[in-house]
Amino acid sequence: MDVRIRAAESGDVPAMARVYVDAWRTTNAGILPSEYLDGLSYRKAELKWYRVLADHQDTPKYFVAETHVGKVVGLAGGGPEREGNPTYRAELYLIYLLAGYQRQGLGRLLVSAVAEESRANGFHSMLVWTFKDTHGACRFYKSLGGELIGSGTITIGGRDVTEVCYGWRNIADLAANQSQEHKGLWNTPHLQDGHRQSLETSSSN
Ligand SMILES: CC(C)(COP(=O)(O)OP(=O)(O)OC[C@H]1O[C@@H](n2cnc3c(N)ncnc32)[C@H](O)[C@@H]1OP(=O)(O)O)[C@@H](O)C(=O)NCCC(=O)NCCS
Repeated sequence: MDVRIRAAESGDVPAMARVYVDAWRTTNAGILPSEYLDGLSYRKAELKWYRVLADHQDTPKYFVAETHVGKVVGLAGGGPEREGNPTYRAELYLIYLLAGYQRQGLGRLLVSAVAEESRANGFHSMLVWTFKDTHGACRFYKSLGGELIGSGTITIGGRDVTEVCYGWRNIADLAANQSQEHKGLWNTPHLQDGHRQSLETSSSN
């Protein structure tokens, strides 16, 4: 598939908001309350992503997967781990692909982009949180060599949801997955996460 991974730009925000909201709805149906998912809106997501972008103009922390016709079909982002974990120093904050673009290797490339960026910023380990019942994501992280290192509970839309945490002690191999043919531009300022900022998570590593 002719898709490139590149640093996100402010012009990507509307497309990123669509990927984010659509993927949340399709992935989390049955996991999160339907009222909560129905309440997500592209406009609110756009405002959040614009704000996050404006707050973090110096570092390319967010990446998009873009088709050859310029359609953004996925996004991922990461940066320093946010809860002070002493072992896992970087964090994959989020990764989402539109349903029609999953299982084609793009997730692996997006993770590689985040891992490579993390290494460039001096981090050599990484973790990610996901819902325990998001089985596809759990299998994905395991397939990339992630080890189950923790769990926690968060409340979203009035429902308690179990989260699990996967970690990589050494992200050299993850970063090396980035193949030359998919490699895009990496030096554009970017966004910071919105998703986990709003989630109260307790971890137990
Ligand atoms: C999870 C996600 C990012 C993975 O990206 P992807 O492009 O679909 O995954 P890849 O094609 O790179 O898969 C790499 C490997 O991971 C494993 N894998 C990925 N998705 C899987 C699934 N749904 N079920 C089982 N294994 C899976 C496979 O081993 C796969 O290799 P294979 O296709 O050769 O068997 C993507 O499917 C997605 O956006 N899902 C919905 C949103 C989501 O769950 N995000 C994570 C929230 S934290």
